[in-house]
Amino acid sequence: MADLKDKVALITGAAHGQGRAVALALAAEGVHIVAFDVAKTLTYPGYELGSNQELQTLKTECETRGVQCLTVPGDVRNDEDIRRAVEAAQSQLPTIDILFNNAGICAYGLAHELTEDAWDAMLDINLKGAWLVARRIIPVMMAQKSGVIINNSSVAGLRGMNRLSHYAASKWGLVGLTKSWALELAPYNIRVNSIHPTGVNTPMNDGLAALEGATPQEIAERSAGNLLPVPWVEPEDVAAMVVFLASDKARYVTGSQFVLDAGLLTR
Ligand SMILES: NC(=O)c1ccc[n+]([C@@H]2O[C@H](COP(=O)([O-])OP(=O)(O)OC[C@H]3O[C@@H](n4cnc5c(N)ncnc54)[C@H](O)[C@@H]3O)[C@@H](O)[C@H]2O)c1
Repeated sequence: MADLKDKVALITGAAHGQGRAVALALAAEGVHIVAFDVAKTLTYPGYELGSNQELQTLKTECETRGVQCLTVPGDVRNDEDIRRAVEAAQSQLPTIDILFNNAGICAYGLAHELTEDAWDAMLDINLKGAWLVARRIIPVMMAQKSGVIINNSSVAGLRGMNRLSHYAASKWGLVGLTKSWALELAPYNIRVNSIHPTGVNTPMNDGLAALEGATPQEIAERSAGNLLPVPWVEPEDVAAMVVFLASDKARYVTGSQFVLDAGLLTR
């Protein structure tokens, strides 16, 4: 056990993929969950995102583990949606102890061919969205003088990526937020770290494969070179890292970048 019983975590992008796996892993540790997700498909990137049905199934699965789960459909770009989520958490649960900034999109495009709409959607969801959500939760954590924020970046937040410059820019941006928030919030005993997975076996990978007319394996291989002989890691591998970072076992860990890349960045 990771000493997390009866804590509360707000997870963005919780309907499926990594967010869902993290919700279930934290729920297994006794953490109550606020599951926030846009729960509809957006024009950009165009592949299938989470759904209300997935949010409802997640709620049932969390409750089976003996914890509460509030589901809040909403967009990380919309401050009013975020306000509703934080208000629901504060009225129905003790507080918010953990924020997993995870909602994100991905799509390929050469820099000179990207539209402004594509650039804006990528940066607004992956980077600005993380700040908008944190902006409403940081005061709650400051008041209680404790909290943990984990930003889901990518290996693309630590290297360049072919045909993914807007994605990489958003993910490098999360490192800047992580390090700056760690400085601002350490006096309040709030820890802030980022995680950097290689390709993960989630619906995002399937969505990119559909858009590109490729197989999910080919999409994973484009991230160019896990050292360990696996095309991708599983969402549960990411969840294990998040559970550790959220727990008191990581009580003096802040401002750091945690790589889960099957060795990719070693090259
Ligand atoms: N899949 C990978 O290979 C991979 C690798 C490294 C990092 N990441 C990052 O991990 C995070 C999770 O990715 P995933 O693989 O689980 O993707 P996914 O597409 O499977 O799930 C993403 C979830 O975020 C939600 N979401 C998207 N836009 C949203 C918005 N505007 N507001 C609220 N919710 C929104 C979706 O509905 C979906 O449920 C993303 O930030 C992604 O960039 C993914």
